[in-house]
Amino acid sequence: MKKRIGILTAGGDCPGLNAVIRAVVRRAVADGAEVVGVKNGWRGLAEGDVEPLTRSAVTGILPRGGTILGTSRLNPLDSPDTLARVKKNWQRFGLEGLVVVGGEGTLSAALDIWRDHNLPLVGIPKTIDNDIRGTDFTFGFDTAVGVVTDAVDRLHSTAESHHRVMVVEVMGRHTGWIAAYGGIAGGADVVLVPEHPFRISRVCELLKHREEQGRAFSIVVVAEDAHPHEEENFLIDEVREQIFRHDRLGGIGTALAQEIEDCTGIETRVTKLGYVQRGGSPSPFDRVLATRFGVKAYEMIQAEQWGQMAAIRANEIVTVPLEEAVSELKRLDEEIYNVAEIFFG
Ligand code: F6P
Repeated sequence: MKKRIGILTAGGDCPGLNAVIRAVVRRAVADGAEVVGVKNGWRGLAEGDVEPLTRSAVTGILPRGGTILGTSRLNPLDSPDTLARVKKNWQRFGLEGLVVVGGEGTLSAALDIWRDHNLPLVGIPKTIDNDIRGTDFTFGFDTAVGVVTDAVDRLHSTAESHHRVMVVEVMGRHTGWIAAYGGIAGGADVVLVPEHPFRISRVCELLKHREEQGRAFSIVVVAEDAHPHEEENFLIDEVREQIFRHDRLGGIGTALAQEIEDCTGIETRVTKLGYVQRGGSPSPFDRVLATRFGVKAYEMIQAEQWGQMAAIRANEIVTVPLEEAVSELKRLDEEIYNVAEIFFG
């Protein structure tokens, strides 16, 4: 009998998911195995919604954004009934292993499902936020940084023409990877990240100083979870709660732009990049990374390396225990922040 494995994509989508799916299928088919695509994350296993992924089913998907399998945030551990249905369908479809492609939340659930319920699975780290421990990069991040860089480049010319400050709010959840990389690549004048609560007086000082030096415009990149320093908190409680919601972040850019305009007197505008950072075709780097991860994931299943995640370290594809990967978020490297900071003001 042919070996049969499954693959699912769960959590927020990101560019490169289809490249992973294609790579798992191509590697498996080359080995004479069958792949079952589970629709909409864990929901597909709970509901028995799967489709065969043949070689022809994955033709042409490499450059496509999103995921042909769909996604959801359903966590089977939230309900014993859902978990029981997942286990039942796992047997029914005869899965000998499952590739779980997800971010921190999905991989944490995968770890528990493997450890506590003995379902054989391996993980692949996916997120534009690049916040997963044990891997230098997650796929999707490079594409998101490309979008931010392009936006900052475009904002430069309009900021310069109007002598304005442009605040650009970017994603990243609780880490500043996208902000720092996008800020460095786009030549931002200030970059604000969650890892370093910012003093608004310092931000305004930097922008005023630029103006005094004859630089008639500035670009400020702010991560969605960047907080003002508690000694200089300019957000009233109601606004703070609205911006830093547990389930959804967004809005610090608008509050910051208002504050900058008030304290510098320079006309200030805000651009929130939002979901464009997550959509569209993956960059070449992400296509290659996702493909390498997909090939590795199949080989991990062959080797029965359950509870492990594919990762990249010093450009080598390696395996990392899921336990290590989800132990805590990977915060922005200080070295990267220090490089960004050299260009402030
Ligand atoms: O984790 C990826 C991400 O895009 C974050 O950068 C962002 O905060 C979040 O997902 C938005 O998630 P949702 O799709 O639930 O709005």
